[in-house]
Amino acid sequence: LFPVITVDGPSGAGKGTISTLLANRLGWHFLDSGAIYRVLAIASIHHQIDASDESGLLPLASGLDVNFEPAEHGCKVILEGEDVSDDIRTEEVGAVASQVASLPSIREALLRRQRAFKEAPGLVADGRDMGTIVFPEAEVKIFLTASAQERANRRFKQLKEAGHDVSILRLLADIEARDERDSNRSVAPLVAAKDALIIDSTELGIEQVLEKITEFANL
Ligand code: CDP
Repeated sequence: LFPVITVDGPSGAGKGTISTLLANRLGWHFLDSGAIYRVLAIASIHHQIDASDESGLLPLASGLDVNFEPAEHGCKVILEGEDVSDDIRTEEVGAVASQVASLPSIREALLRRQRAFKEAPGLVADGRDMGTIVFPEAEVKIFLTASAQERANRRFKQLKEAGHDVSILRLLADIEARDERDSNRSVAPLVAAKDALIIDSTELGIEQVLEKITEFANL
């Protein structure tokens, strides 16, 4: 069976950067599970289904026509034939994603799709519940966190570089609201797996975090 490294944690902790780099260096597959929830959020907006309408969203989640195509930087995300890679990254879509992600049957419907990413030679899986629910059997589990202020700063830089105009106070408020919702929901609340290595990256650079992971994983 193939090795899996799970990287879970709150919004803006650097999971995306760290897991993409790790997957590239190892030559393993990469699952951006948040992108799946974000794509579902966009689809719900397109189809005008409310983010709290669980039975209305269920067929959409089960039949979600999403593809991840390798691109120069990470992956292109294709929904119903349309490139939505940029559209899914806004804070608005993130907020809707976190709403649909709180619905139990929706999470259940997306399980198989996520598990299908586990392929040779290995997988790095980025999300909230990768180590606890989707891949509980994973050999290496990481829980990556940082202070809310630092996470807002990082998200600010990232969005600014992508040409989005955002306010840092607004971002901090959004991050805190999403932390609150992700941690307190009844299904798959954001918690570290019992066997996870917890890394607080508030004061750590990317290479330092990668070093801790490679050491822990014996890579
Ligand atoms: O990049 P960021 O961490 O802000 O967001 P993301 O990882 O793309 O996830 C967007 C939203 O999807 C999160 O706020 C979670 O509510 C939800 N999500 C989840 O519930 N479970 C996952 N495995 C991944 C994301």
